Parts: sequence; C-alpha cells; structure tokens
Amino acid sequence: MSDPRLIVALDVSTESELRELVQRIPNTHCRAKIGKELFTSIGPIAIDICHKAGLDVFLDLKFHDIPNTCAKAVRAAARWGVWMTNVHCSGGSDMMRAAREILEGEVHRPKLIGVTVLTSMSADGLNELGVNRDLESQVDHLALLSDSCGLDGVVCSAQEAKRLRQKIGPDFCLVTPGIRPTWAAANDQTRIVTPREALDNGADYLVIGRPITASDRPEEAIGRIVGEL
Ligand code: C5P
Repeated sequence: MSDPRLIVALDVSTESELRELVQRIPNTHCRAKIGKELFTSIGPIAIDICHKAGLDVFLDLKFHDIPNTCAKAVRAAARWGVWMTNVHCSGGSDMMRAAREILEGEVHRPKLIGVTVLTSMSADGLNELGVNRDLESQVDHLALLSDSCGLDGVVCSAQEAKRLRQKIGPDFCLVTPGIRPTWAAANDQTRIVTPREALDNGADYLVIGRPITASDRPEEAIGRIVGEL
C-alpha cells in the first residue's frame, strides 16, 4: 500500500476554493491537511470533500482542553474517518492519555500526534509563559512525554527532527511543517529546510502549503517536490 509522505496544507476558507484545489492534488502522492481556518470556515464538509477525492485527511485542530472534552473531540475526529489528528502536549499527560485511550474503543483509529512547542514560539515567548527550560529541552521533554502517553508521534520543525529521531527511535512519527523547496518563496516561515533535507533528518511526513496552493500550477509544484523526494 502506498504511504504518501507529502501532506498538502489546504489553507483556504471557502468550499469552492477547496473543491478547485483538491481536483489538482493527486491522491497517489499526497495527503491533505485541514487546519483551523478551513474547518472553522466550512466545517466537516471539508473532510468529506477530501475523502471523496481519495485524499487521507490530517485534521490539524490541535485540541487542548480538559481530558474528557479533548478525548471526545478526538473520538469525533476518529468517527469522521480521518487518518491523523493532534492535541497540544502542554494539555498534560492526563489529557494525552485520555485522548489515546478513547480511541481504543473505536473501529477506525487515526494516528494521534502531539504538538510540542509551536515553531512560531521564541525562547522569550516560552519564558514569558513561565517555562524556564530552553526551547530545545522543552521540545524534547514534551515529545518524550507524549511518547510515554502512547501518542504516535509529534509535529516538529524539520530541524528538530534529527534530534528527536535519535532520542525517541524509529517508530515515533515525525510530521514536519516549515518545508520549502529551493525554488519556492519562504513566505513567513523561518528556519526552513528542503523536502529532501527533512526526510534525511528523519521526518516521516512533510507538511507543505503555499509552495503548492499559491502556485498557478499546483500539479507541477507537487511533481517537482515528489521528484526531489
Ligand atoms: O504554507 P506553509 O507551507 O507555510 O504551511 C504550513 C502549514 O503548517 C500551515 O497550515 C501551518 O499552520 C502549519 N504549521 C506550521 N508550523 C507549525 C505547525 C503547523 O507551519 N509549527
């Protein structure tokens, strides 16, 4: 069975834009990521549109709540048939365990991954929240905690992937945004790496949005990226 490594971030906000975009994304090479903008704009029909196009869905809603509420949201995602969903590790181990355990009773079990420290967060920002570790140690700490709670992996920057791969081992799933092919604009992403470098660092799945979605020819952009992989 094929296991596409490329996850296209479908950061649009209307049903028509989504329908137009999914037609151009080959499900043989790609999966789809539905984030907060799209889901809050048009709701679960976004999942349905992707599934009808044969695209597996990563529902990137980064749940963070009391354990009971978070777990039930994760279960609802499972019942939509998504391939992957996520929670914030900073919700704590009770919350992460509750989310994992509720999936044990489900017929369809999505991959459940954690968000450690958002890549947009600076060391000062972390400090402001009362976290006195440096950023790297906090990422490592939360990734190890999520592993101990039975999560399948984490979202991390491709630069962190190498370190986490060494610390946690081969079966922990690493999903990396902030990827830019050499020919694409960086946009607002900093600390970017190329698709090939991300895989070499140990990433399992690469999340790429604007180099594909803002292109006049998304199919061509996908073809070039897949070629690089
Ligand atoms: O367009 P671009 O390739 O920058 O899109 C990256 C996607 O990954 C966006 O949907 C963004 O919200 C998401 N993301 C990210 N950095 C994180 C977590 C998620 O860029 N740390």
